[in-house]
Amino acid sequence: MEHLHAQTAAGHQGPPPPGPTPLFRPLSGALGAETDAIDLSRPLDAATIEAVRTAFREHHLLVIRNQSLDKERMYRFAELFGPIESHMIRLADGSKWDAVHTITNLDAAGNPVAKPFISSNYFWHTDKSFLAEPSLLTMLHAVELPPNGGDTQFADMTKAYDALPDATKRRIDGLKSVQSLEFMRRYTGSAPPTEDDIAAAPPIAHPLVRTHPETGRKSLYIGMYSSHIEGMPEEDGRALLEELLAHATQDRFLYTHTWQLGDLVFWDNRCLLHRAVANFEMGKHRRVLMRIVVKGTVPS
Ligand SMILES: [Fe+2]
Repeated sequence: MEHLHAQTAAGHQGPPPPGPTPLFRPLSGALGAETDAIDLSRPLDAATIEAVRTAFREHHLLVIRNQSLDKERMYRFAELFGPIESHMIRLADGSKWDAVHTITNLDAAGNPVAKPFISSNYFWHTDKSFLAEPSLLTMLHAVELPPNGGDTQFADMTKAYDALPDATKRRIDGLKSVQSLEFMRRYTGSAPPTEDDIAAAPPIAHPLVRTHPETGRKSLYIGMYSSHIEGMPEEDGRALLEELLAHATQDRFLYTHTWQLGDLVFWDNRCLLHRAVANFEMGKHRRVLMRIVVKGTVPS
């Protein structure tokens, strides 16, 4: 008995038992984390919801693998992060997008189309930064994918800001950039917005460096909607914006997402830029993603 007791006591003096395995593991880029240990076909318990929120704050982009979500389930999950954004984009038949809508290269007959419907998706941007209250989080769910490519790229604006020389940080401190739907359409070679579109979202100035409301970290708030710098000659403002964008989209700040069927991916528009990559045969293969957006707050 004495011997057994000694063995047990010795066992207790060894390394502590391993703690719970983290739900998310980092992706192999500058940002983001993934899991295959969540099933969103059922409601999540409170501890899992908290783990997801914490990981989102920490990694800015999360990938939940192997999901098969209908609109209702996707909506229920997205609204855990805030109120759902409605959409001002009208379809060709005059209808508006649903809160949960589809990003696709298919025409009305269901055939792949070679030319993208929204070409501005291929330029670096943060969703709806031309609104007074831009999007907080965008969520995409892969339903149909081409055999290769169709990637989405992300750039970490917090890391990009941190890496700026101190002189540049001082130079841009307190500046505001004007965000404009009309400018973006020109910049990306897209059709100009209607007068109604402009009246619904006139140009608006947001801080060039915004502070994340949850983490307190500073990040660059730039992209294709950034027209010019308030109070600066237009040419100088354009040069500064292009210089910051070139800095912020270097490989060392990027993560490229290669989609797998069933992926649910969502990211923080307050501190990331993103763009679609035109690296698949768009006229040949089908690509269908479900999308929903959570509304954000006024940047500061
Ligand atoms: Fe986008």
